[in-house]
Amino acid sequence: MDSKLTDKLNKRKIEGTLRSLSFFDGMIDFCSNDYLGLSKIETSNISNNHGSTGSRLISGNSIEAENCESFLSSFFIVDASLVFNSGYDANIGFFSTVPQRGDVILYDEKIHASVRDGIRLSFAKSFSFEHNSIEDLASKLRQINGVVYIAIESLYSMDGDLAPIEEIAELAEKFGAYLIVDEAHACGIMGQNGKGIVDHLSLNSRVFARVITFGKAYGSHGAAILGSLKLKEFLINFARSFIYTTALSPNSYARIIQLVERSESEVERKKLQENILLFRSLMDVNSIYSNEISPIQMIRIGDVLKTKNLALVLQQNLFAVKAIYSPTVKRGEEGIRICIHSFNTNEEIRSLCKNISIQSTLIG
Ligand SMILES: Cc1ncc(COP(=O)(O)O)c(C=O)c1O
Repeated sequence: MDSKLTDKLNKRKIEGTLRSLSFFDGMIDFCSNDYLGLSKIETSNISNNHGSTGSRLISGNSIEAENCESFLSSFFIVDASLVFNSGYDANIGFFSTVPQRGDVILYDEKIHASVRDGIRLSFAKSFSFEHNSIEDLASKLRQINGVVYIAIESLYSMDGDLAPIEEIAELAEKFGAYLIVDEAHACGIMGQNGKGIVDHLSLNSRVFARVITFGKAYGSHGAAILGSLKLKEFLINFARSFIYTTALSPNSYARIIQLVERSESEVERKKLQENILLFRSLMDVNSIYSNEISPIQMIRIGDVLKTKNLALVLQQNLFAVKAIYSPTVKRGEEGIRICIHSFNTNEEIRSLCKNISIQSTLIG
């Protein structure tokens, strides 16, 4: 392999941030995004078609795909929805094609990598604004003429904190900017029937597009962009991550409908909130920046080695947890991203917190 590539790998090794694949079979899940345990739910009447046979524009369209999109539009109370194979594809597809040359994208500095990658493929100019800072966003908006897109997440994937969406929507309106909200981690668990935070705040009509994903709380795979009929038509025509890829199988679309319907039940969401409450009551919440109702609870340690050691010891004690380093988070913001689930037992949560507290004291 080219020595430049080896050098990059070695640099990560030296920094202690080299990534490798692992699995956590038989361990207690405190790291998956399966917040409600829906990935293990049996679904019925699923289509027998396990392959879509082509892209949506060739042979991959199906009654199941069309049904799924109609269902999502009415469930999320929006004019149109378009399913992508993943949230990564949805964000790449949107940001690489909708903002045009001469337009500007303002994005929260903590926005997900998939939005950033979409922006890198776009001909529009882009600038980040300070995380959740209304002042910084307003000051950037004042300096820009022309078409502006604002990209935020409603529940941030690493820190588990919420965006001030209402204030951002107000600013977007004041400056005539288009607001795009990635609800990857919020849909399924936040708001009435899990419809997300935008819906909960009655902002549906004030948001240009929402990105929802099915691989997290819904326990499946895929994503959808929710917006207008014109936006859908545009994406079908121009979003390359929609056009040039084999569609999900009819089976997958059918399962998505059932899982989203299943998530209307408040039982798991209530249990999830009780578990989050228990976790936070046992932890020193000063070390946690995450929102009190977020299933993502980031214990920020701010040091690669200490984070690594804590993760290792917890894993040895059979807790499936993941250390998060740069470049996923900024240097100095390394930590353990704990995901709480509806199915974690009180005993598991108590035991995790006890272990974190003992190990944190030892590690210093
Ligand atoms: C905020 C956010 N958006 C988009 C994605 C991508 O979604 P998917 O995993 O479906 O590709 C993720 C996944 O990590 C995410 O956290």
